[in-house]
Amino acid sequence: MKNILAPSILSADIMRLGEQIEAVQKAGADYLHIDVMDGVFVPSLSYGVCVVESIRKSCDMVLDVHLMIVEPHRYVEAFAKAGADIITVHLEACDDVRETLEMIHFHGCRAGLSIKPQTPVEDVSGFLDLADLILIMGVEPGFAGQTYFPESTQRIRYLREQIGKQSHPIDLEVDGGITEENLREVLRAGANVIVSGSVIFSDPEKNTRRLMEILREEEKENTGAIIGGRTD
Ligand code: DX5
Ligand code: ZN
Repeated sequence: MKNILAPSILSADIMRLGEQIEAVQKAGADYLHIDVMDGVFVPSLSYGVCVVESIRKSCDMVLDVHLMIVEPHRYVEAFAKAGADIITVHLEACDDVRETLEMIHFHGCRAGLSIKPQTPVEDVSGFLDLADLILIMGVEPGFAGQTYFPESTQRIRYLREQIGKQSHPIDLEVDGGITEENLREVLRAGANVIVSGSVIFSDPEKNTRRLMEILREEEKENTGAIIGGRTD
């Protein structure tokens, strides 16, 4: 199974965004994680559709858009048109989770579903048939640079098992509090997409390379160990 790194530009230097995106791509990151926050679902405000549109124009990475906004169905079409490849919504923020995931597919994107640390992990089980990605938050959403909740690892393990029972591939992404110290633990629990904000952007190229090395090493360790989920 291929492990994927998704640098989160929430921690990037906005004045040097283009250059920093090139640096993480050059160093081997495949996804670019874009955190959209509305000041309601989470306390912070970040950026919206036009930022995705602008990044899309000069970046061919997979754009992994994490919507931390209420009633995300209202913006699915706009983010899809702006060039998102993956649109992830929060289960807690949706009026109708199935409809929202179907809408993401209708607009030609891969559909992600995320849960906050306090939401029972079993709550996503009923939506796996429609999900291309499940995002487990390792911290309360809203801010970069927080400390990983160790209980998240068990949640990753549980979901990897559930994903293994599905007939289609599903990425299992972990977001928040990832460091060089806990990276192997989350990979071994079954996460295959790793979001990293503050760690990577303290030195984008160097730290992408360091994390990518660990991702590659763990791929070799785990060859054949995980049944189900993404194998490409
Ligand atoms: C937090 C965001 C994360 C954030 C992660 O709500 O969803 O993507 O950028 O930052 P770190 O890796 O610093 O915890
Ligand atoms: Zn995120």
